[in-house]
Amino acid sequence: MLEDISKVLFTEEEIRARVTELGRQISEDFRGEDIVVIGLLKGCFIFIADLIRHIDANVAVDFMLVSSYGAGVVSSGEIKVRKDYSIDIEGKNVLVIDDILDTGRTLAFVKDYLSVKSPKTVKLCTLLDKPERRTSKVAVDYVGFQVPDEFVVGYGLDFDEKYRNLPFIGVLKPEVYK
Ligand code: IMP
Ligand code: MG
Repeated sequence: MLEDISKVLFTEEEIRARVTELGRQISEDFRGEDIVVIGLLKGCFIFIADLIRHIDANVAVDFMLVSSYGAGVVSSGEIKVRKDYSIDIEGKNVLVIDDILDTGRTLAFVKDYLSVKSPKTVKLCTLLDKPERRTSKVAVDYVGFQVPDEFVVGYGLDFDEKYRNLPFIGVLKPEVYK
């Protein structure tokens, strides 16, 4: 597995420090108000587990599975809800958690999708942001790290369902997916 990684972008320690900081910032912004955290599967599962333990508020956790990717590394463009959330979000503060903001289509879609259910607020949080690839305009409230336009894996992020269990975030060698 390690031989497929060309470089480490963020170590376990760097991720831990940034996630702790994000949790503190979210706690301050919500000032003790209840939050419904909706994670976008599957890439968010490690990030969300770490992040919510640094949020000082009542947190309800739910998940959605939306997909725009097949087994490849380029978004197919069409977004489908494969598993919906189930907690009632009417009048609630919703915080959507994603692993990486790439074209922006996923988070733009999810924000619209949830906004029509009359939540009090909808905020967006992504661990990673690849700004060079943006095609959809979407305002994200919390970003962990910016990454270059390379395919990254680890800490929950996969290529073809592999590498999610790497404790760090690294760049996947192009020959692995080409
Ligand atoms: P968007 O809709 O193009 O913003 O796509 C976001 C989704 O694409 C993420 O939630 C990931 O599942 C996937 N994705 C985009 N870039 C990468 C990457 O570098 N590594 C792993 N997954 C990625
Ligand atoms: Mg994803």
